[in-house]
Amino acid sequence: MNSIILGTGRYLPSNVVTNHDLAQRMDTNHEWIVERTGIHERRFAIPGVDTTASMGTEAAKRALDAAGLSPHDVDLILFATLSPDYYFPGPGVQLQHNLGCRTIGAIDIRNQCSGFVYALSIADQYLRNGAANHVLVVGSELHSGGLDMSTRGRNVSVIFGDGAGAVVLGRTDEPGRGLLSTHLHSQGEHAEELALLGPSTRDWIPEIIQRNDPEDVSYFPRMNGNFVFKHAVVRFAEVIEEALTSNQLSTSDLRLLIPHQANLRIAQFIQQKLGLREDQVYNNIMRYGNTTAASIPIALSEAFDEGRIQKGDLLMMAAFGSGFTWGSALMRW
Ligand code: ACO
Repeated sequence: MNSIILGTGRYLPSNVVTNHDLAQRMDTNHEWIVERTGIHERRFAIPGVDTTASMGTEAAKRALDAAGLSPHDVDLILFATLSPDYYFPGPGVQLQHNLGCRTIGAIDIRNQCSGFVYALSIADQYLRNGAANHVLVVGSELHSGGLDMSTRGRNVSVIFGDGAGAVVLGRTDEPGRGLLSTHLHSQGEHAEELALLGPSTRDWIPEIIQRNDPEDVSYFPRMNGNFVFKHAVVRFAEVIEEALTSNQLSTSDLRLLIPHQANLRIAQFIQQKLGLREDQVYNNIMRYGNTTAASIPIALSEAFDEGRIQKGDLLMMAAFGSGFTWGSALMRW
C-alpha cells in the first residue's frame, strides 16, 4: 500500500505587491527583478488578518474539503515553516486547535525550502506502517513582516512572498500508484550561507541591544545569492536523477516536475540540464515569489486545479534551500 495525496488546497493573501511597489520602498526596479528571478509580483500578508497559522489553516480546510474529509479524520499533522507565529510553540498545535482536530500529534518541520518534501517523507512512514490513516501536511510562510525593506536588504527581500499550501495523504491499494520514493539530504557546513542568525539562544536580545550596533541586522535573513544559486542547480539535478534512477525511470516518463519555486532562472537551468520540455516543468514564481516551505504545495494545488496532473501521471517534487537541505518526492498520481 502506497501513500497517496487525496486532496490539495492553497491560500494566498489578497494583498498583491508588484515589483513597482517594492521600487517605492528601496532602490530596485522591475527589470532587474524579472531578469534575475522571473518574479513579477508576490503576495504579502495583511497585518492583523493573515498569520502563518491562519494561512495554513485555510489551506488545510481547502485540502480537507477537496479530499471529502473532516478534521476528525486527521490522524497526524505535519507543519513545515521557517516563519512561525511564535518562537515556540510551533504552528502545528495552532492548526490542531483552529481546525478542531482530535488531540492528535502535531509535528513542526523546520527544513526551510525543503520542509514540504521532508514532511511528505515523514507522512509516508506513518501511513505505510499503519500508524496513521490520514496525514495533513501543511507548508505556510509569512516572510513579509521580517524582511529588510531598505536598499540594504534588496537582494533578499525582492525574492520572498507569503502564502500557504496543504495536502491530505491517505493510502491506496492500486498497484503502482502513490508515493514511489522520497530522498532527503543535508549539508550543514553551508548553514550560514542562507540563514537568519538572531535573535537566537546563542545571541539573545539583551546581547544584541548591548552591542548597540546600528549595522547589526542579524535579525534579517541573509543570503549569499551566487553561492546558493550554484549549489541549487547542482543539487536539484542530482536529487531528481537519484529519484528517477532508484525507480528505474527516466526524465521522459515525467509528466510534471514541480521544483521548489526558488528562482525562475534556477528552474530553467534544471529544465535545460535534464532535457525536459517546458510543459514538463511547473512554475508560478512569477506571481507568488519564493514562498519557501509553501511553494511546492501551492504549485501542486494550482497545477492540479489547472488539470496539469491527471490520474496515472508521474509527478516529481524537488526542493533545495537553507541548511543546505534538499530532497525529492516522486509520485504516480
Ligand atoms: N535590485 C537592483 N539591484 C540589485 C538588487 C535588487 N533587488 N539586488 C542586488 N542588486 C545589485 C547588487 O547590489 C549588485 O550590484 P553591484 O554589481 O553594483 O555590486 C548587482 O545587483 C548584482 O548582485 P548579485 O547579488 O551578484 O546578483 P545576482 O546576479 O547573484 O542575483 C540573486 C541575485 C537573484 C539573489 C541570485 O544570486 C539568486 O537567485 N541566487 C539564488 C538564491 C535563491 O534563489 N534564493 C532563494 C532562496 S533560497 C532557495 O529557495 C533555494
